[in-house]
Order: sequence, then structure tokens, then C-alpha cells
Amino acid sequence: MFASVFVIALGLCYCSRASSQSSLGLPRLFGPSEALVKTAIEMNCELLTFPEDEPILLQLFREGNHSRLFAEYTSLEGEVADLPVYVQPYHEGNLECVARAQNNSLIEPTVSNIHYLKVIEPVKGAEIEVRSGSVDLFEGNMLELRCKLKAGNHVSYKWLLNGRLVSQSLLHDDRLLINRTTSQDSGSYRCVASNSFNQTDFFTSNSTEVVITVREPVKGAEIEVRSGSVDLFEGNMLELRCKLKAGNHVSYKWLLNGQLVSQSLLHDDRLLINRTTSQDSGSYRCVASNSFNQTDFFTSNSTEVVITVREPVKGAEIEVRSGSVDLFEGNMLELRCKLKAGNHVSYKWLLNGQLVSQSLLHDDRLLINRTTSQDSGSYRCVASNSFNQTDFFTSNSTEVVITVRDLVSTPNISFTVLKEDFQNYSAVVTCRSTRGTPPVTFSLYNSTEVIASVTVEEQFATFKVPLILGQDLGFLQCQARNGDNATYSEKIPLEVVPVGGPVKMPYTYDSGENYDVIGVTFYCKAEKGTHPRYQWFLNGTLLDDRGSFYYVDHQPPEMAMLMLSVGDSSAGTYHCEVSDSFDNTTAISSRRLYLDKHTLNRLPVWVVAVVFGSFTFLILLVSVCCGLGVVFRRRHYGEKSLLDFEMERMTPVYYGKLDLSHYNEDTDVVNAARWGEVDQASLDSVDEWPQIEEEKKTLEDEPAEEP
Ligand SMILES: *[C@@H]1O[C@H](CO)[C@@H](O)[C@H](O)[C@H]1NC(C)=O
Ligand SMILES: *[C@@H]1O[C@H](CO)[C@@H](O)[C@H](O)[C@H]1NC(C)=O
Ligand SMILES: *[C@@H]1O[C@H](CO)[C@@H](O)[C@H](O)[C@H]1NC(C)=O
Ligand SMILES: *[C@@H]1O[C@H](CO)[C@@H](O)[C@H](O)[C@H]1NC(C)=O
Ligand SMILES: *[C@@H]1O[C@H](CO)[C@@H](O)[C@H](O)[C@H]1NC(C)=O
Ligand SMILES: *[C@@H]1O[C@H](CO)[C@@H](O)[C@H](O)[C@H]1NC(C)=O
Ligand SMILES: *[C@@H]1O[C@H](CO)[C@@H](O)[C@H](O)[C@H]1NC(C)=O
Ligand SMILES: *[C@@H]1O[C@H](CO)[C@@H](O)[C@H](O)[C@H]1NC(C)=O
Repeated sequence: MFASVFVIALGLCYCSRASSQSSLGLPRLFGPSEALVKTAIEMNCELLTFPEDEPILLQLFREGNHSRLFAEYTSLEGEVADLPVYVQPYHEGNLECVARAQNNSLIEPTVSNIHYLKVIEPVKGAEIEVRSGSVDLFEGNMLELRCKLKAGNHVSYKWLLNGRLVSQSLLHDDRLLINRTTSQDSGSYRCVASNSFNQTDFFTSNSTEVVITVREPVKGAEIEVRSGSVDLFEGNMLELRCKLKAGNHVSYKWLLNGQLVSQSLLHDDRLLINRTTSQDSGSYRCVASNSFNQTDFFTSNSTEVVITVREPVKGAEIEVRSGSVDLFEGNMLELRCKLKAGNHVSYKWLLNGQLVSQSLLHDDRLLINRTTSQDSGSYRCVASNSFNQTDFFTSNSTEVVITVRDLVSTPNISFTVLKEDFQNYSAVVTCRSTRGTPPVTFSLYNSTEVIASVTVEEQFATFKVPLILGQDLGFLQCQARNGDNATYSEKIPLEVVPVGGPVKMPYTYDSGENYDVIGVTFYCKAEKGTHPRYQWFLNGTLLDDRGSFYYVDHQPPEMAMLMLSVGDSSAGTYHCEVSDSFDNTTAISSRRLYLDKHTLNRLPVWVVAVVFGSFTFLILLVSVCCGLGVVFRRRHYGEKSLLDFEMERMTPVYYGKLDLSHYNEDTDVVNAARWGEVDQASLDSVDEWPQIEEEKKTLEDEPAEEP
């Protein structure tokens, strides 16, 4: 065996020696296929066929590029060439070994096989480059990151987002590319670069982290009232939250009535006021925005929410704006309910504990344009903060008493006469109003000036004025005054005439169906006297105002009437007396008249005389006329005028207005009043009666003059 190997070796040697004279064999290049940069390695090149004694140069090149020599070796005896290389990145690639005869250009150089050398440079200094520009994005923007290295080749890359591997599909070599970002892509990015040598030495480089923010545009901001109600009282807490439909990386602003709310009250998306005051009332709005670099890119405004902070009412008090608590009817009354504190207040007013009609209220004021005494009383105002028909806080004022006084009405004036002593008289004048709240000031005027004035707690006053009987002292007038209002009575003359004679007592009578006299009315009248007193007597006895068969009707100062029902009890002698009402020592009597029903129903003697006289005269006249008529037919007037004259004397002259129904129930009575003919003096005065009536009328119709 050893011998056969020796023979083959010898054979091979022989063969190479045989050809070495003219050519070189192909060198064989071998060595490590992977090398670390900056390390020394040795490549080997071996030439199996070579000429004798010819130094052969073996050189290491990159394939096809013989301008840059990596290493060389001179082989004299055909030994294997050692080609040392200090590895640099440019050594990587296909290497070849070129063999050539050193001094013999006749021998053709030969090139070895190709040997691939991979040069490994460990990764170093990984760093993220944000190629898409900004680390702040909005959804939909593109994100491109690159993992930059200071050194390293044959690198593989991994990306981590918040420590988790990013899907391979997004990686492109050393880049991470997201075409349309979402907020999910926000976070902290890191790249990890790695390579290895000989499957034994591993190299990695971690970049520092880069924080990418992908903002979701804000949308649909809305206020949520977390504290419950939009109606608060001072001291209550207010918590509002700005709710969003979408959006992240949001900053919040709050506006109150358009003014920025202090930052100190804001907590993230909430606005919190622990103890509200009325200053916190108003219209709130939240503004959410994605902003960076002091610029708002997207904003969303909520609708406004109105928050009402009520200040509890306190210290209600009535202010009398119209001035005085003492008024007269027709004056204006204006009260105001003043508060020490409180807003969003409603007011009520009470008068003597009863609610005052709403129609009189104007905000915090009570206004009555024209007061009446009904408006008098004790006023109180009640202020309250209320909502939802519930009073939460109320404040009552103290009571204020308002007095509305009635204006005094037009006074009546009258006077009576007072006898002080002999020849010394006074008029006692009474001024009287029917309404008007005291105190009332009454003043008495004579024709020229004020005589007296007095303020009283009643609705009347009396004055004493010296008087001289029978003398015209002008007139008197009352003035009544309360408040700014003065009223005046009518004017009455101040003239007192004592009664004077003669006193007359005429009468009328009424007949029944059969012409019987059934009723008699006496009239009593003095010639003069302004203050007469009338008295009636029967058989010398004073009659009361009313008896079983009579009735007295006094109509001072003109006259008095006595109405009788004629019967058995009414028979007797009648007369009347007139005296001054202030001095009964001055009585004047009328004539006395006897009356019973027989004397009344008997025809008066003079009537009979006249009737019979006239009748006889007529017969005589007719006889004469007939005689004369024969002669003068045409004469006819005289008789007739004489007849008329007689008839007139029979006609009643005066129909007194008289109501006899009080003492005569017989409705069939025919009221045919006629003047009785008893007292010739009375009869003489008959024509005066209608005149008296007329005078009275004109006096009444005279309008009252104002002074
Ligand atoms: C080859 O040439 C080198 C230099 O040119 C020389 O030194 C050497 O002696 C020569 N060798 C032979 C065998 O001629
Ligand atoms: C408001 O109230 C909250 C909770 O009641 C409390 O934590 C906070 O300190 C209060 N803030 C102020 C300013 O009083
Ligand atoms: C931020 O704002 C400043 C000045 O307003 C500007 O110079 C800078 O470019 C802005 N940066 C970005 C990322 O928009
Ligand atoms: C206030 O007035 C109301 C109604 O008149 C009454 O019920 C309440 O007791 C009063 N309160 C005070 C403090 O006077
Ligand atoms: C009239 O009487 C009054 C009261 O008695 C008295 O004051 C007055 O002086 C008298 N006058 C005359 C004029 O006598
Ligand atoms: C009115 O009264 C005053 C004083 O009492 C008196 O002086 C005057 O004469 C009176 N005038 C008339 C017209 O009576
Ligand atoms: C009055 O006197 C007359 C007689 O003189 C007498 O007949 C008559 O009854 C008296 N009347 C009365 C009411 O006394
Ligand atoms: C007059 O009147 C007084 C008081 O009224 C009375 O006392 C007196 O008797 C009367 N005199 C006459 C005569 O009637």
C-alpha cells in the first residue's frame, strides 16, 4: 500500500516536472469564508504544477480587479503560499489567486478558483431617524422611521412599540413605514439592529426611544353637569365635565360668559368649583382642542350650559319710596322690598296678613296709584329664592304701617240761637261732615274773613258767634280740611228775627162721600220770626206731637200744621202759640176756634145769606130783564158776569199738599179742601199762602256760592 502511494506520488511529480518546463498549473485558493473586520486572516494558494527552479509569485485580488493587490507570496519550491490579510470591509467579495513565473515572461500566468469572503462588521450606534418629519401626527398622517447605524453590515432589524414587536409587514429593510396612522400607533418606538459572525458571535444595537404622538382630532364636545343641577345656591359645589365623542391628546379651556376661566379650577377635562358664589352664575362653554407647539389644530366647542347660582335672600326691609306712611286717599303709595343680599328673588306682599294682588307688584316694588282707606294697614314683604315652585330661602321684612285717610266731605252748616242772658244772644254754629278721617280742621268764615278755626278728632265742630237779634250780620260758611283738601259748605245768612204777630190759624177741611166734613187741617203761622217754635192747644191744654185723633207736622220756620180727624173726641176750642225757639218767654197766641162736627156740617150763615140773597136778586133781575128784554133784546151780558162773580167766591183758593192717610183709613174720601170761613183775619191772609210756598222754593233753588 505504502509502495502504491509512493508510486502515484512519484508519477504526479514526474508529470508536473515534465510540463514545468513550459507552463503553470491552476492554483487553488482556499481559506476562511467569513471574517471579522479588523482581524488578520490567512488565505492560502497552492500550485500543484510549476516549472523547476522558477520562483512563482502568487497574488491575491478581487475577482476581475487586479489593480488593487490584497496580498502576495513567492513560492520557490512549490510550497503553499500564505497570504495574510488584515480584513477590511472592502475585502468582502469573490477573491482569486493569480500565479505567475517571476523572471520568465514566456510562462503564462494562471488564475485560481474563486473564493467568496464575507466580511462581518459588528453593528454599532443604532439610532432612529424620523423621516416623515414630526413626532406629532394626526390620524391619517404617514409615519416613516429609519434605523440609522454608525456601523454594521449584514444587519437584521426589529422594531418595538412600547416594548412590543412591530409587525414585520410594516418593515422595509431599515425602515418602518405606516401609511395611515391611527391613535393606536402612538407610543415609544425603539429599533434593534443585529448581526452575527460564524453563528457564534452575535452583535446587537438598541436605539434610544422616540415617542410618536398620533392625535385623534377632537369631536362632539359636550358639557356634563356632574354636580347634578344647573340651579345652585351659594356654597354648593359645581362640577362640569367636557365630554368628547372622539379625540385624544386634548387640552381643555372653559369659558364663562365668553371669558376664560382660571386654570386653577380645571382638572383635566373637568371644571370644579368647591364653593360657588353668585359670581359663578352664567353661561359655560368648554373648548376641547388638539394642540401642540402652541397652535390649535382641531377644536370642538360645546353648546352653552347656563348655571344659576342663587344668593340666599337676607335682610328684607321695606322702603317707603312715596315718602310718608301717612297718606290721604288718592295719593300714590310706593313701597320697595330692599334686600341686604340675594339674587333670583321673587317677592310677595302681605297687607294685614293677606296676600296683595299681583297686579300691584312690579318686581321688588308695590305701587298703588290712587290709594283709598282700604289700603291702610300693616304691610310686610316676603322675599324668597324659589325655583320649581319651592321656596328655599325666604326673608320677611318687618311690618310698616300705612295709614290712608279719607278726605273730608263737604260739610253741612246750621246754627241754633242761644240766649246767654238778657239782651245777650249767640249763634251756635255746627259744621258737620259725613266722612273724612280725623283730625279735621273746621274753620268758620263770615262775609269777609275767618272767624274761628279748630282741629278736632271728630267729623264736626261747633262755634259760638255773638248775635244781635233782628240784624243782618252777613252770612256764615264752614270750611273742612284734612290733608291738602278743603271743602266748603253752602253759605247761610246770619240773621235772627224774633217772632212777631199777628199769629194766624187758617184751616182747610175734607169731605166724605155724603159731603160730611171728616177731616180738618189747621195751619199756624206768625207774621215774622226766623226761629219759631209752634205749640198747639185744645181747651187750653198743650197737645203732644201725636194723639188718638190728631197729628202735628212742624215745618219750621214757615209754619206748623195740625191735622184732625173730625169726631166726638176732636170737639173743643183750638189755638196755636208761636215763640222764639231760643226764648220761650215770647209766646204769641192765635185766636181761639171752637170746632165740632155739627158746626162744621152746618152751612155757614153767610153762605145761606149770600145764596138766598143772590137767588132773590136773580129772580128780581130776571123779571127786570124780561121786562127790559122786550124792549132791548140784544142786552144780555150783565146777568152772566154777575153769576160768574158769585161762582168765584165759592171756588177753593188753595189746595194744601196734605197727606191725611195717617189718620183717615177711608180711601173713598174725596179730598175737596176748601177754606173754612170762621176767622175773618185768616181769610184776609188767604192770598198770601201760595206766595210763601213760592218764596221757599226760590230760596232752595239758589245755588250755593263758594267764598
Ligand atoms: C531573477 O530576477 C531577479 C531580479 O530581476 C534576480 O534577482 C534573480 O537573480 C533572477 N533569477 C534568475 C534565476 O535569473
Ligand atoms: C375641593 O374639594 C375636593 C373634594 O371635595 C378637594 O379634594 C379639593 O381639595 C377641594 N379644593 C379646594 C380648592 O378647596
Ligand atoms: C413650533 O413653533 C415654532 C414657532 O412658532 C416653529 O418655529 C416650529 O417650526 C414649530 N414646530 C413644529 C413642529 O411645528
Ligand atoms: C315669614 O312669613 C311667613 C308667612 O307670613 C311666616 O310663615 C314665617 O313664619 C315668617 N318668618 C319669620 C322669620 O318671620
Ligand atoms: C254775653 O254773655 C257772654 C257769656 O255769658 C259774655 O261772655 C259776654 O260778655 C256777654 N256780652 C255782653 C255784651 O254782655
Ligand atoms: C267778620 O268777623 C270779624 C271778626 O269777628 C268782624 O270784625 C267783621 O266785622 C265781620 N264781618 C262781617 C261782614 O260781619
Ligand atoms: C173741650 O170743651 C168743650 C166745652 O167747652 C167740651 O165739650 C169738650 O168735650 C172738651 N174737649 C176735650 C177734649 O176735653
Ligand atoms: C221755657 O223753657 C224752659 C227750658 O226749656 C222751661 O224750663 C220753662 O218752663 C219754659 N217756660 C215756658 C213759659 O214755657
